[in-house]
Amino acid sequence: MKTACIVLAAGLGKRMDSPLPKVLHRICGTTMLESVLSSVRKLQPDRTIIVAGRHIEEIKETLGNEGLSYVLQKEAKGTGHAVLCARPALKDFQGTVVVLNGDTPLLDYETIKKFLRMHRRDRNILSVLSFTAKDPTDYGRIIRDAYGEVTAIIEEKDADPSQKRICEINSGVYALDSEALSLLGAIRMNRAKGEYYLTDIVAEAAKRGVKTSAYCIGTEEEFMGVNTREELRRASLLMRKRIVKKWSERGVTFLDADSVFVHAGVSIGRDATIYPNVYLEGHTKVGRETTIFPNVRIVNAEIGAGAVIKDSTVIEDSKVKSGASVGPFAHLRPGSEVGAGARVGNFVELKKAVIGKGSKASHLSYLGDVIIGKGVNIGAGTITCNYDGAKKHRTVLGDGVFVGSDTQFIAPVKVGRGAYIGAGSTITTDVPAGALALSRAKQKNIRGWTKKRKSKVTSRKSKV
Ligand code: UD1
Ligand code: CA
Repeated sequence: MKTACIVLAAGLGKRMDSPLPKVLHRICGTTMLESVLSSVRKLQPDRTIIVAGRHIEEIKETLGNEGLSYVLQKEAKGTGHAVLCARPALKDFQGTVVVLNGDTPLLDYETIKKFLRMHRRDRNILSVLSFTAKDPTDYGRIIRDAYGEVTAIIEEKDADPSQKRICEINSGVYALDSEALSLLGAIRMNRAKGEYYLTDIVAEAAKRGVKTSAYCIGTEEEFMGVNTREELRRASLLMRKRIVKKWSERGVTFLDADSVFVHAGVSIGRDATIYPNVYLEGHTKVGRETTIFPNVRIVNAEIGAGAVIKDSTVIEDSKVKSGASVGPFAHLRPGSEVGAGARVGNFVELKKAVIGKGSKASHLSYLGDVIIGKGVNIGAGTITCNYDGAKKHRTVLGDGVFVGSDTQFIAPVKVGRGAYIGAGSTITTDVPAGALALSRAKQKNIRGWTKKRKSKVTSRKSKV
């Protein structure tokens, strides 16, 4: 039996009060719509159709085209109208159509799979996935008759006081067999909101004796619909907890799970220890047995096994290899790579800096557009002067180079293997392997200078 999924994402999201379409608001590093789609993909549907409104181009750009097709709903005339817009795209489709809302980012594909199995087992034409809510306000209520059969879904605005007390809620997930799609045409415009409600097909199906069921198998948490910023905040909190719990169960230690933010696309190895206030973002990969100390933000970076990232460090689009140590107070800007066992210490900034195995830059340096070999020592205060005001240039330091403190490399410049740079040097030309380069002015000591100066000053004062 074939499956097609329709994800409704054309609503205006007025309650978010934002120029950004609601479904593109972010939750734990991903958009709400991508979060729904990641569950949809696990169902392996034969087709996936996104119904989008005037933000369709923005949505396409965010999601791409792979395995997806898009349908435009010009005006947001309601969820029923949105599915009607997708109907032509399913003209030749035979099978089950699963409809989902794009604003329920926490839904779990296992629940939908189970729902789909029940729909097929019972040979329904139409099924609705429902859940019980502690507070049903604003959701559609499931109305059942004396036999427990579902007869309608009533929205908050249209519910009478006794219906408002019903806690069985429409999750926004439906399974329709091709036949049920023809019921869409019977939906009338809802007066209270001026929209065509998809939920009205349930009453239509009941009226016509079409085989319909509502399966109350969801949880309030997973089907939480996000319509406001407050709901987005609550959903984010739930997702954050869910992600941290998942990694805890896979052997990661969190010292204070409530203060840690781990994006959905992150992976963390076993026996990693994560201190408070840590942000692991994007597609970051943290290796096993690593330690991430407090106040660290790592974005789209790879941290190798056993590496230590010390307090208040920022790492973006970079690699830290196994056993390396970075921080405290270090900044790895995009394109940097810290080799195995290497050390990058406090107040060191790297940008497109590749640092070889076992090399050290322990304090106060700017290393940009540089390739540093193995076993190199970078003294405190070293600066690669990579920018001439128009172009960026590269510095290359061979294996085993020793750079004395307060050195500037005026790039482009190369230093051969094992060379030494005397402290306080400004290196403007290449240094051969094994050489010592010194560029500072020779020191001069003027004996008795202080005493002479003092007597000059006092004689000047007495003249005044
Ligand atoms: C909807 C259901 C409600 C259910 C709740 C679950 C209806 C009428 N009501 O209410 O029974 O309990 O979801 O979260 O369906 N959309 C479009 N085009 C439109 C309008 C909406 O694509 O013209 C999309 C939205 O982008 C959104 C989804 O459909 O992703 C649901 O729309 P929304 O307005 O949020 O419906 P709710 O009022 O939450
Ligand atoms: Ca909603």
